[in-house]
Amino acid sequence: MDGLYIKKNEGISLEAGIESVGSLRLLAQAGGLEVMRQSILKGATVWITPAEDVETLEFFYILSGALEMKVDGSPQQLAAGDSFYVHGLRDELLIRARQSTELLYITNRPLFDSLFGFQDDLTNLLRQIDEKDHYTYAHSVHVMCYSAKILEQMALDGMDTATVSLDTLMVASLFHDIGKCFVPDEILKKRQPLTKSEQRFIVRHPMDSARILKQRFDEKIVEIARNHHERLDGSGYPFGLIGDEISVEARMIGVADSFDAMTTDRGYNRQMGCLEAAEELYALKDRYDRRVTGALLTLARSGALEEIRKGDGSARP
Ligand SMILES: [Fe+2]
Ligand SMILES: [Fe+2]
Repeated sequence: MDGLYIKKNEGISLEAGIESVGSLRLLAQAGGLEVMRQSILKGATVWITPAEDVETLEFFYILSGALEMKVDGSPQQLAAGDSFYVHGLRDELLIRARQSTELLYITNRPLFDSLFGFQDDLTNLLRQIDEKDHYTYAHSVHVMCYSAKILEQMALDGMDTATVSLDTLMVASLFHDIGKCFVPDEILKKRQPLTKSEQRFIVRHPMDSARILKQRFDEKIVEIARNHHERLDGSGYPFGLIGDEISVEARMIGVADSFDAMTTDRGYNRQMGCLEAAEELYALKDRYDRRVTGALLTLARSGALEEIRKGDGSARP
């Protein structure tokens, strides 16, 4: 029948973000209006950000599960059958899934198309990493998952994370090592200690990551990737930046990056357990930001990092 559209498998699926957060599916789209089904996994946190357009409306109906959101400082519980909408939102709204939750999401904010186009671009880059070196690919996915968890924990610990965008953090963490595309295979996969000239290839990979990302993303993402090996005391590379010269996002990815290297068996290192590695990073307070390593330690103690560590990076964004 003209004008009738039936989608039995609920339309195009977009894993918006990472599998440890959930997914977004487009059900219908017309006249600037999008109808989506959003899944949020148990324990995951999502943000609704204020829209630039004052006419923006975002409506959510909880199909199943349970959510908690902080409204003016006090927690509000929402369950299946409840709904809420935002219109003229001024501050970010943080929502945590107390159970795995399914939502019907209707908005006049053109969201899905931009996310889907964005996703395509990212997928091509990711494929390049995976073809070059599966270890780097799995590592990149791990670092992204750890970074998202660290941000969530820092927010739960009451730290001011308002300036940190989860999307920016995830993109930067996923592609922080894309510059390794330029490192010769024999150096990238070498198990013996590297010579001085071989080290030079490794030392320049953050700059190559930044150069590649500059063609696609904004300066914030470029800066994070460029500085993920910088350390607070100036002992990092490529520039030996110190303290405030390194953004909090680059510090977060630096911690997640070192943590993954310490807890992964690469054939030439002693693989540590999550708690041991988190404790060691926490002790290195001159190099790593304690707000970040403190959150990592809390997560390690709760066992929240173990699941990610065991994964092989198949949790594609
Ligand atoms: Fe790196
Ligand atoms: Fe890395």
